[in-house]
Amino acid sequence: MPEYNRASAADVKRGGVNETETSGKAVPPLLVEHVTKRFRQGTQVIEALSDVSLTVQRGEFVAIMGASGSGKSTLLHAMAGLTDIDSGSIAVDGQDLARLNDARLTRFRRERIGLVFQAYNLLPLLSAEDNIQLPVMDHRRGGDKVASLLDRLGLTDRRTHKPDALSGGEQQRVAIARALVTDPAILLVDEPTGNLDSVAGAEICGLLRSLCDEQNRTIVMVTHEPSVALAADRVRILKDGAIVDGFQTAGFADAQGLANAYQDALRKAADCARDAS
Ligand SMILES: Nc1ncnc2c1ncn2[C@@H]1O[C@H](COP(=O)(O)OP(=O)(O)O)[C@@H](O)[C@H]1O
Ligand SMILES: [Mg+2]
Repeated sequence: MPEYNRASAADVKRGGVNETETSGKAVPPLLVEHVTKRFRQGTQVIEALSDVSLTVQRGEFVAIMGASGSGKSTLLHAMAGLTDIDSGSIAVDGQDLARLNDARLTRFRRERIGLVFQAYNLLPLLSAEDNIQLPVMDHRRGGDKVASLLDRLGLTDRRTHKPDALSGGEQQRVAIARALVTDPAILLVDEPTGNLDSVAGAEICGLLRSLCDEQNRTIVMVTHEPSVALAADRVRILKDGAIVDGFQTAGFADAQGLANAYQDALRKAADCARDAS
């Protein structure tokens, strides 16, 4: 068993879980333990996640890399409580997601989890500012947060624009601001640069990196692009639903170095699988 305290049943009922527990050990923002997820496709059963474990500490930026179909989105959706899992557990900010009923899970997700998708998912009829404000509509001090996020993300002069009047990079910055406005325990980001050109993509990577460095944000990002993963502190590699390897990014001078390490890891995993069969 890990040493950190889990939220007690009473804590869960009260909906209150703290970052620092009485033992003084920090609860990690994300604790994924032995998660398995299967999908039925006709008569076939696909194991999209296979005994996946991952702990992310506060202020860490972790990239999950894997080919298309390796289970990246399924893992991210499970971490957000958007997908039920078949076994294992996922705790965000000390809260076991499986112990929340639908209404509490929805509230918990809105308040404690920031989600950013490849396709931005902004509301087309709302301005940038109103899109960012949406999750904190009923909070009195929400407006101050929105103004400081607009400023921090360089969107102040775009605040009245609707999404279709913004560039892809600007729309993604609005989506990131919206995800941050509740001050979530963790930011979950799915292929954030997938719809962007390389310049705008690099800008988004730089922004995520600086949010981590300057504000101690905790970020889990899935991507298949080495140049994007380079922004993270460390990389975990998914192959056929299982985490097969990982490395720190600090040793790589550029994306090519990381790409080589990623390919090596995939080759090694394929060799192991062949030897085992
Ligand atoms: N809702 C679903 N129903 C059936 N199979 C699914 C569903 N979602 C994902 N899968 C399958 O699970 C595997 C992992 O998919 P996904 O997590 O989307 O991969 P990635 O994001 O890495 O491309 C794939 O084989 C995919 O076909
Ligand atoms: Mg995906």
